[in-house]
Amino acid sequence: MTTGWTWRYDRYDAGREPLVEALCTLGNGRFATRGSAPECPAGGPHYPGTYLAGCYDRLTSVVAGERVENEDLVNLPNWTLLRYRRLPDEGPPGDWLTPDSEELRHYDVRLDLRAGVLTRHLFFEDARGRGLRVSHIRVVHMGDSGLAAQRTLFRAYGWSGSVEVRSVLDGTVTNAGVERYRHLDGRHLTDHRTGFEPDGVAWLSCRTVDPGIGIAMAVRTATRPARLARETATGTGTAQTYRLPVGPGRSATVVKTLALHTSMDWPAADPLSAATDAIARAPSFPRLLSGHTAAWQRVWEQGELHVPGEAGRILRLHVFHLLQTLSPHTADLDVGVPARGLHGEAYRGHVFWDELFVLPYLDLHFPEVARALLMYRHRRLPAAREAARLAGRQGAMYPWQSASSGREETQVLHLNPRSGRWLADHSRLQRHVGSAVAYNVWRYAQATGDLGFLHSAGAEILLEVARYWAGAVVLDPESGRYRIRGVVGPDEYHDAYPGASAPGIDDNAYTNVTAAWVLARGLDLLGELPEARRSELREQLALDDGELDRWEDVSRRLHVPFHQGVVSQFEGYGDLAELDWEAYRARYGDIRRLDRILEAEGDTVNRYQASKQADTLMLGYLFRPEELHGLFGRLGYAWEDETWRATVSYYLRRTSHGSTLSSLVHGWVLARQMGADAWRYCEEALLADVADVQGGTTGEGVHLGAMAGTIDLVERGITGLETGPEGLRVAPVPLAEIPRFTFTLCVGRHRGVRLRMLPGRLAVRVPASSAGPLAVFLPGDRRVTVAPGQERWFRL
Ligand code: BGC
Repeated sequence: MTTGWTWRYDRYDAGREPLVEALCTLGNGRFATRGSAPECPAGGPHYPGTYLAGCYDRLTSVVAGERVENEDLVNLPNWTLLRYRRLPDEGPPGDWLTPDSEELRHYDVRLDLRAGVLTRHLFFEDARGRGLRVSHIRVVHMGDSGLAAQRTLFRAYGWSGSVEVRSVLDGTVTNAGVERYRHLDGRHLTDHRTGFEPDGVAWLSCRTVDPGIGIAMAVRTATRPARLARETATGTGTAQTYRLPVGPGRSATVVKTLALHTSMDWPAADPLSAATDAIARAPSFPRLLSGHTAAWQRVWEQGELHVPGEAGRILRLHVFHLLQTLSPHTADLDVGVPARGLHGEAYRGHVFWDELFVLPYLDLHFPEVARALLMYRHRRLPAAREAARLAGRQGAMYPWQSASSGREETQVLHLNPRSGRWLADHSRLQRHVGSAVAYNVWRYAQATGDLGFLHSAGAEILLEVARYWAGAVVLDPESGRYRIRGVVGPDEYHDAYPGASAPGIDDNAYTNVTAAWVLARGLDLLGELPEARRSELREQLALDDGELDRWEDVSRRLHVPFHQGVVSQFEGYGDLAELDWEAYRARYGDIRRLDRILEAEGDTVNRYQASKQADTLMLGYLFRPEELHGLFGRLGYAWEDETWRATVSYYLRRTSHGSTLSSLVHGWVLARQMGADAWRYCEEALLADVADVQGGTTGEGVHLGAMAGTIDLVERGITGLETGPEGLRVAPVPLAEIPRFTFTLCVGRHRGVRLRMLPGRLAVRVPASSAGPLAVFLPGDRRVTVAPGQERWFRL
């Protein structure tokens, strides 16, 4: 149950606990801690996890007889653990209490999204009527990104005595949060050292195995009434045990404050000294809390999307988790967009193409963060060039899964949990990721007008990806068209032709059309650059006229397959067998992971016209109808709106939505063409994590792409919003279920522009601090302006 700004779970359900932990994660962009019960170490339904953005570690494991390397986002020591039990004046000590205790009578978890505060209330009562109320409050500081804190209040009912409290810093943690990865070595922490300082401070330092990132946590535990701790240290952790008197009218409080420092921090310092210094300076809990909530207020002012009703509450949760993963602090970090947030270990914290769904929101609200995420890609341009070179190509070949170094981190084998078989993983052949990076560069520059970036780092990325495509094609002498062979499209189900000995499919329409787009933008960009910069870049990249002529040629003659009047997802898709969808639904119910079902049956999804997720339809997500016209026209194909409509309905019937990105893209595409079913898909995308629609995956981390995509669906999808230095443009399509909403955005130089959308009307407010008027382009070629300090209403 939820209300307004509060997300709430009002009973304990062990089966739901992984989901609650993921959705109650608290973070500040630098690190995040899952919303796990402080009483419980890892085990059963409980999985405490703390993850630092960009902190990956590499290990080698033997899986199915093969040595495989895995680079994982490291689970850091558990700082939250707080155990407690009753020590009544009369009778023996009680058991250590947890939500799983039989004595639990009441349980309530509340996540306050406005303040970024997680509260947990528990009430225990034993057979003799001795009650204990426990209330925890946790924050991960949004202002000071090295701090977190947890305050616990104990109140006794019907007895007196003490509560024994053990405040633990646990360094025995491993990466063990995803059952499918249990065969991989998860022991990423080594060289533990522990100790104590005066004033209730315990510390733990360790390092990752490879590359040996130093990590230090200092925890200060303070109690009221003040008591000295019995302090014990093991090689891998510390425990501070207190006996706090409680009784009628006497409560006890424990505040645990964390300072986290690592060798990745700037300025460089010994992590342990930095952590112990920081904990000595850390403010008291009330001051820490007020600094934290004030920081959140500033973040919300920039980031909020207000939509009334239930959809709005879910969207607010999405904004919250997005901003906890990628906050203003991210602008100072060298990190990418982890597909599952900093909320769990699925996909090992890797960075895929999902930033395609995340950056548009950041472009509008936090352009500095969007830029930093693009710089993460730019710093890995040398690695992408090297990957291209090793593949015998020029330019830059970005990896399908990226982590610390920018080399390819996609697994070579994956487990089908249904069949128990290890299978070759060819998803790394998704070369379209490079076009997504280039597209993000272009869109960021269009939305923000940041030519400084576009003409420097941005141009290098875009031109090197274009160069890769120009060299990756082969000319088919018969048709006179260029082809891209042996790839995998966004639909990961099709990784080979049935019976083929080599992986990959040919001429994935999405890959080819976006490659043509990148080549054309590369040429446009070179044309737009100031002369001096153009010559400099051409010299730096050794781009001669002959190469540019080839770009032009390839961008106009890439092959796009068609069948039955629709775009073919790839060459030969239309020749594959039709799946009996109804029979499979009847037999299995949930058939999202059709690939696993078929493989377990001894069949393969490669034989069928059955897609995991939006693939061809991604074109309608990235490009407006007139852009599609332009793109296909440039490629020399006759393009009618009807071709697109037929293509949409063709794939709608042949997609199992095995990725949360799928319903989002379908919702977007249908909403833009005012399709009858739009809301069904939008709603599924909204529910993806809160209702865990992919069957148990949310507990392993949120789906950040889908979360961000739903916000963007409202902000840009329904409004048809485009921003740039020349102003803002809208072309709304009404979506009955989301008739009104408000958000604040950046438009070129203008910050804090407020947009209010109502049925048939739009209000634009420009802050008084803006340097000049803002141009607004409305449907029907109307151009109006809004002056600083003014709000104007327009009919749509
Ligand atoms: C999807 C990819 C996505 C990845 C990470 C996969 O299930 O097929 O498109 O990038 O998840 O979110």
